Amino acid sequence: MCGIVGYVGPREATEVLIEGLRRLEYRGYDSAGVAVMNGTGVQVRKAVGRLSALEKVLSSNGIHGGVGIGHTRWATHGVPNEVNSHPHVSYDGKVSIIHNGIIENYRELKRELAEQGVKFKSDTDTEVVAHLLAKAFDGGLLTTLSKVVKRLRGAYALAVCHSDQPDRIVATRMGSPLVIGIGEGENFIASDVPAVLKYTRQIVFLEEGCLAQVTRDGVELFDADLKPLSFTPTTTSLTLDAAEKEGYEHFMLKEIHEQPHALAETIRGRIDGDHVDLSELELDAESLKGVKRIAILACGTSLYSGMVGKYLLERFTRIPTETWSASEFRYADPVIDPGMLVIAVSQSGETADTLEALRIVKEGGARTIAICNVMGSSIPRMVDATLYTRAGPEIGVASTKAYTTQLAGFVLLAVGIGRMVDKTDEATEKTIVEGLRQMPGQVKALLDEDIVAVKRCAKRYKDVFNFMYIGRHFNYPTAMEGALKLKEISYIHAEGYAGGEMKHGPLALVEGTFPTIAIAPAGRTREKLISNVQEIKARKGVVVMLSTHGDEEARELADYLIEIPACEEELSPILAVIPLQLLAYYTATQLGRDVDKPRNLAKSVTVE
Ligand code: M6R
Repeated sequence: MCGIVGYVGPREATEVLIEGLRRLEYRGYDSAGVAVMNGTGVQVRKAVGRLSALEKVLSSNGIHGGVGIGHTRWATHGVPNEVNSHPHVSYDGKVSIIHNGIIENYRELKRELAEQGVKFKSDTDTEVVAHLLAKAFDGGLLTTLSKVVKRLRGAYALAVCHSDQPDRIVATRMGSPLVIGIGEGENFIASDVPAVLKYTRQIVFLEEGCLAQVTRDGVELFDADLKPLSFTPTTTSLTLDAAEKEGYEHFMLKEIHEQPHALAETIRGRIDGDHVDLSELELDAESLKGVKRIAILACGTSLYSGMVGKYLLERFTRIPTETWSASEFRYADPVIDPGMLVIAVSQSGETADTLEALRIVKEGGARTIAICNVMGSSIPRMVDATLYTRAGPEIGVASTKAYTTQLAGFVLLAVGIGRMVDKTDEATEKTIVEGLRQMPGQVKALLDEDIVAVKRCAKRYKDVFNFMYIGRHFNYPTAMEGALKLKEISYIHAEGYAGGEMKHGPLALVEGTFPTIAIAPAGRTREKLISNVQEIKARKGVVVMLSTHGDEEARELADYLIEIPACEEELSPILAVIPLQLLAYYTATQLGRDVDKPRNLAKSVTVE
């Protein structure tokens, strides 16, 4: 969590830092701050709230200089106030520091420093690092940082300035991302590539535990023992346009409408005629035949795509598959063996819980695959093979196009592996491939339709306190995802439930004004779900039916009807979630919520 950015060069550092922080606000937006060096010591400005608050401070009380660091915060230790905002400055006023992550042993370090007479200003874990650096300073910021990080436990991307060496920024990372942008006569550091895109496309991804020294004239990299490392920058294919709203009111709406293109990109080159082509993953059929079980690890929306993934993998490969919330997996004393194939799913590739769970399975000798959206992020760099979803940057905190492209990724993996282990026949593969090929067009048709029932529902139910979403089998996770979308951006409580479970308890909630969204596209469980809806109707509940075009029974039962195009049931979660994303979006906008930056959340959760 949190976004960090640093600049060394001839421009006004604050301008570059603000531009970078704007691109990183998705990582946190509780408060923001900058520190600039200009030969007269370090100058710091901070403000609580969105970046615009900091801009206001800078416009009335600006700072000039060409070396600086900036931070946008998602609070972990200490409430969002000015004192807890980064950059933090050491007791002697010489060190300024920004941090993304958590220093787990900060309490013992704080105690030690307090015993030496250091007075703490903030409640953060980060402040201890500033003081440790000041205490240990040996005339060289790089050597000092290399010594100090050896005392830290936890996750961090750190960038540090010192007023005795005002020409440089020194940075390091462990478990949190850090990229370096290489310019001409100027250089940058940041949590993520979009922060530096306006100035350079030459990027270096700093490896775990390594250090960087960044000056105007160059960048030097070192391992943890300060052995110099050679490196070659990569040219990123990301563009600034991709990270703009392009006329949409919110990134979320833009990203919902990007799904046809994103799906086409995910599929591109991975289906060939009637076949799935996974050659880029270099999977070995013989070794896959030895896989005894599959475990999917993910969080949030990615977890729900993983739940669909389980059903798909079991259907097409017949290999027992379990889906785990990565944060639970870590502490569940999991059984890991070399016969296990692990699939980590993550939009950002930086989610700390997923990364940690992945570390454990790698230590246990399991084979690993990732389904991920962000090229070069930490998760793809840890696994044996990655299926990139190619959805483009997802900026809205509520995940939309990442989800549907992950689903498409799972279809490709399940059918592809199913063929390799001889559990899916050619005819089935052909049917699914044909269905997948139609997905971008079907999603586009659905979006072009301007689903009137969705807008009417949003208007009618925006003031209720509770919503129930039900689905079965492939669309049970759709119910969970629909409910998550609604609660995270509208703040209305919503639950996703397996339709058959209603009668085991939640049916007690149903009465005249209680809305249930029943996801019942054509497929094996449709009829069963219709029975669940009958049970709700018999108790005078309100039902919004999501069904396949032409389902007359659904039409008769529904108080509101949302229809999706006909498709194979294995693909129906891709279509079914689209109206639910829109329902959440329109409900949240009716309520005047900050759709792209919902309260208390951040896009990338890089703390456990
Ligand atoms: O980047 P990841 O896919 O690993 O992120 C996982 C979750 O944090 C994420 O899906 C979160 O639940 C979204 N806000 C949901 O919309």
